[in-house]
This record gives sequence, structure tokens and C-alpha cells, in this order.
Amino acid sequence: MTKSNYHQIVQSLRQSFPQPVSDRVHDAYFAYSFMRALDQVDDLKSQAPMLGTPGELDYHAAKQQRMQEDSSTVEQVSTELVNHLNGMFIWGHPKSQINVIPPPSIPSIIGGLLPTIYNANMASEESAQRIVLSEIEAIAMTADLIGFDPEKVGGLFTFGGTGTLLYGLKLGLEKACPGTGKTGLTEPAYILCSERAHYAVRTVAQWMGIGSDQVIEIPANPENEIRTCLLESHLRDLLKQNKKVAGIVATMGTTDHFGLDDLEEVIEIRDRLVDEFGLEYTPHIHADAVIGWAWSVFHDYSFERNPLNFPSRTVRALAGTIRRIKHISKADSTGIDFHKTGYTPYISSLFLVKNVDDMALVSRGQEETPYLFQSGDYHPGRYSLETSRSAAGPMSAFASLKLLGKNGLRSLLGHVVTLAEHLRDHLKGHSATTVLNGDNFGPVTLFRVYPEGVDTFEVHERELKDPKFTEKLREYNEYNRRIFEQMQSEALTGQGVVISMTDCYRESDTGEPINALKSYLLSPFADEQHVDEVLKSIWRAREVVG
Ligand SMILES: Cc1ncc(COP(=O)(O)O)c(C=O)c1O
Repeated sequence: MTKSNYHQIVQSLRQSFPQPVSDRVHDAYFAYSFMRALDQVDDLKSQAPMLGTPGELDYHAAKQQRMQEDSSTVEQVSTELVNHLNGMFIWGHPKSQINVIPPPSIPSIIGGLLPTIYNANMASEESAQRIVLSEIEAIAMTADLIGFDPEKVGGLFTFGGTGTLLYGLKLGLEKACPGTGKTGLTEPAYILCSERAHYAVRTVAQWMGIGSDQVIEIPANPENEIRTCLLESHLRDLLKQNKKVAGIVATMGTTDHFGLDDLEEVIEIRDRLVDEFGLEYTPHIHADAVIGWAWSVFHDYSFERNPLNFPSRTVRALAGTIRRIKHISKADSTGIDFHKTGYTPYISSLFLVKNVDDMALVSRGQEETPYLFQSGDYHPGRYSLETSRSAAGPMSAFASLKLLGKNGLRSLLGHVVTLAEHLRDHLKGHSATTVLNGDNFGPVTLFRVYPEGVDTFEVHERELKDPKFTEKLREYNEYNRRIFEQMQSEALTGQGVVISMTDCYRESDTGEPINALKSYLLSPFADEQHVDEVLKSIWRAREVVG
């Protein structure tokens, strides 16, 4: 390649970058390029809850991709990018009730986009400047919301709910077995959580070298909450044997059921046993509130006056949730996912620790990071696992908190909970359906559908408890799978509603998995008519499946 050739290429590629000095014409080109991409995405929209048409993905062709010899234009690449969105679900569509994935608000998208353009690295004030304040501000607002003292709190944004558990349990391990970060594990350490806790607890145990065999899953009660008496007996057993406890995880909003552990009682048990055994350390309690945290906005809501005029059933459901959520502030640390119930894009996960001094347990000394942290006052890279840290999470969380305000988030959550209650009413009232998490008060409804002639008053009890019913349980599992597949294929044609399915919402007393259909309502665009459509689509599926 001659000199002039590469110069020409560099010259032309400059147009593909945001300009470093003010150039409004080029800014217009930049914005227009994005608008064109949005226009192309808009062409993929229909009445259906997904973009374009879903189809088989050609993984073989994808593997044949190779880097081409010459550069492409912004327009060419944009078109290729838009093609990748073909078939993507629209989480904000009222007929999309799939999982705990919200549609992100416009400010939260802009919040993610702006630091992306300027490529801030949140390892330090040095590489993100004023953008770091968004992390401190989001931490202060959220700490205040859940009841941690914003003056004493510590924390940082990280790579997902799993990341928040990793930070919590890492602190817990260092408390139980000081120096482990340096020496590695020299004795087994145990983690206790409910059997309904997210599998991320086991993941973290594996990745930290604790080992998932050392995760003790305590049975849950029918409300999907940890059985605290069994927690106490397992904890006591461990302490009697002089075993170390790296952490106790209380789940504040289980993934499938919205079960809420009795954190207050968990803490009382821990404190009692610390005294009784004269422990030299206090086992760390982490509240996995990645889903339930958002209900903290009801902390200071007057349910008596009910200024937002929620229906009385909704008031009951919200009050039933806050009764447990209000205790998050008693935990030593917690995890909060804005990308689950805070209406931001992935990834926006916040790990909070009640006492910032705890972060010293995982901090690196300046001698370990000689090329960083030469100036400025805020250096989360000293204690973060990651060195490259995106600012998208904190900026979009900040944007969402600012946009919604307490009344905005209260209204969105109150709305989806009202709709979920409506769905439950109908499912409970019909002879062919059973609600499985009727005592949980969130936006998620687990249910099963049965063929004609099944007595739904007693069938689920038998599925749970009667060993002689195992064959039938398997048959109804298969039936529910077929109902799901039928609803899914109808929804993919643009009719009906996309819901999801969980292979095992819980096990029967004999250890048989029981599956369930799942409606997760989070869209601000959903209304009663979309709940009714779920019902209609169930009845249509029943007719097809038989
Ligand atoms: C209760 C709970 N904890 C932890 C996680 C893990 O979060 P992430 O998928 O963001 O890593 C999830 C994910 O759904 C969850 O529901």
C-alpha cells in the first residue's frame, strides 16, 4: 500500500468518527445516521410484540464471517446492524409478558449512549471526570431509597445481578476467613440461601473457589420464602462444627415467584447465634434484592391515604411487599438491578454495602496499580474486580431515577401489579387453571393449565404431595409444555401474547420438577385488554392441544 493510499483511507475513516472539535454539520450526519438506523428498525415494527419476523438462525453462515479487506461505510454497517434486530422481542410491547426485562426509558438510553460516545472508563475520576458523579449520585439516591445511610454507604456498579452477589460473598468470605484473597481458601467456607435463590449464588461459589457443594439450600415455604427455622438449624450445625460461614443470602424477590425472604428474622437468627457461639466474626448477610429493590419507593407511601388512588387489592399487594422490602437496610450488603425493575438497558447493576469500610477488605494498594490513580479523589478501580468499567450502567440508572421520581416508579409498579392481580383473579376463577404463586404480590404470575375434566381444586395439591400421582404430574407437565408451545407459536405470528415457561417452579415432595407458565408484566403500555388476551390465547391453545 502506498503512503497516499493509507492517508486516503484514514482521511475517509475520519468521517466515521464523532468529530473532536465542534462541527455541527457532522453532528447532524451522526444524528442522521442514527435516525436512519431507527427508521430501518421502525420498518420492522408491526402489531406483533417483536421486530420483523422471527426465524431459524443461520449459525453456520455466522461462523463463515471473516474480516473483509476494505472498509465499509457508516450506512452499510448500520444496515447490517439493524438486520441483527430482526426477530427481536419488544419488551415494552403490551403483548410481551416474558420475563423480568423492562423496556428502557429514553433518558436511560441516552444515559448509556453519551458516555459511550466519549468512552469514559469508570475505574477512576482520571478517566471519566465528572461522569463519575453519576455513580456517586445513583448510589446516594438508591441508598436513601432502601434505607442505608448515604453518608456511610459504599458500593459500585458491576456486571449484573451475579456480580452483585459476587461482591457480597467476597466481602463475606474475607470476614469469615481473613486473608483468603492472598492465600486462597485454606478451609471450607459455607453459603446459606433458600432453595428458591437464583442459581447465581452457586455460580459465584464455583467461581470464587468456595465450591457449589458448600452452598446449603434451605427449603422454602409455600410462599416461596426461606424457612427460617431450618436456616437456624443448618447454621447452628455448621457453627457447632466450627465451620466458617462466608455468607447468608436472603432473596428479596425470587426470579420466578417474587418470593420475599423474611430478612428481619434471618438477621435476628444470625445475631443470636453470633452471641451464642461467641463468634469472632459476624457472618455477612447479603440481600439479593435485584428484583424487589424497586418496591422501596413505597417505603414512605401512605397506604391509608393512597394518594395515587391504587385499587384496594393493589394497595394490599404493595403493602404486602413493602412489609418485607423495608428490611433490606438491615442487611450488610445488597444487589440492585436497574435493568430488571428500574426501566434501564442492560447492564445496570448496583452493589451496595452498608458500611463503606467493608470495601477495604477487597481494596488494592497503590503499589499494585502504579500506572493508575495519580490524580483525583474517586477511584473505584481500587476495589472493583473490573479495571475497564463502563459508565453506561450508572448513567442510565441516574437517568431513570431522575426521570421517574418516586411517584413515577410507584405508578409504574402499581400499574403492573394491578394488572397481575387482574390476571390472577381470572386464572383463579376458571376451572381449568391454577395460580401457583397466589400468595406472592409481584408482577409475575405462575400458573398451570389442565385438560377438560380435571378437578383443579385438588389436582395441584396431589401433584405436590401424592407419590401415586407422579405419572399424572408428568402428563400435566407435558400438557403445559404443549399449551406453552401453542401459545408461543400463535404469538410469533402476531396474535396472542408472548409469555414464558419455567421447567421447574418447584419440585414435588418426591423431587419431581413441576413446570409452570409465566406471565411477567412490566410494560407501561400494558392494559387490562392485554391481560384478557393472555386468557383468550390460553383457551385457544387448549382447544388445539385438547
Ligand atoms: C433473584 C436474582 N438474583 C440474581 C440474578 C442474576 O442476575 P444477572 O442475570 O443480572 O446476573 C437474577 C437474574 O434473574 C435473579 O432473578
